[in-house]
Amino acid sequence: MKFGIGWREEVLTEINQQVDNIDVIEIMPDQYMFDLRKKVELLKKFLPKKDIIFHCVSLSIGSSEIELDYLYELKRLVDIFDPLIISDHIGITRYKSYDTGIACPVSYNSKTLKIFEANINKFQKIIGKPLLLENISCPLKMLDEEFSEAEFIAKLYQVTGVNILLDVTNLYINSKNHNFDYREWLEKIPISSVRQLHLAGGNEVEGKLWDSHCCAVAKDNWSVYEMAINLFSQIEFVIVERDNRYETFYESINDIFTARDILLKQR
Ligand SMILES: [Fe+2]
Repeated sequence: MKFGIGWREEVLTEINQQVDNIDVIEIMPDQYMFDLRKKVELLKKFLPKKDIIFHCVSLSIGSSEIELDYLYELKRLVDIFDPLIISDHIGITRYKSYDTGIACPVSYNSKTLKIFEANINKFQKIIGKPLLLENISCPLKMLDEEFSEAEFIAKLYQVTGVNILLDVTNLYINSKNHNFDYREWLEKIPISSVRQLHLAGGNEVEGKLWDSHCCAVAKDNWSVYEMAINLFSQIEFVIVERDNRYETFYESINDIFTARDILLKQR
């Protein structure tokens, strides 16, 4: 299992200082798309020589039509950086010309499943690299649902073969906000489907937890991680995400150490 961090330009010095403790870097290609060639050159210059994986936010795999311009631009970056895998979210970020900038939920039903199947096929034809899809955190519940989130993910894997990026923190947050047992949720996910984990720290606002990537992984959240690494046999990458309060970035580095220690104690 390889452990790493989400690449953010705000902490490129800190990441480079910790290079010996990091196996893999997760890049968000959206930040380097469309006429940002200078940024790509900078990225190439400062990126440590480590394994690279991509994490997209605007593929919008749940939209009725995946955007081909986005896929071709993604392919340009894939050819430059040769990521081992590419991920995005089980959600939509685009409706017609409106871009939400953050993954919004889809209705978990057969119609959505067909949309995902068609879009995953288009992705594979153009990109030709393994795609992983991530469970999101969401305070809302959608209408027209036939399946629970975990059932939908299991069906998605059975129908399309797409692997899962299990965001352990999103699951933890949803289980607290919607009051369900994360153990039962995890037991519904096919054992061979999960290839990557995300971990992050969130915060609490008016009694609800938010996936704000602002601090260390919560103490209780580690039990979800422990169960996930115990349950899923195909996990290759564990990435700690941080997008806020970079002055305490060391907390995220400590989280990498903790994640590695828990794995070592378990084996
Ligand atoms: Fe995530």
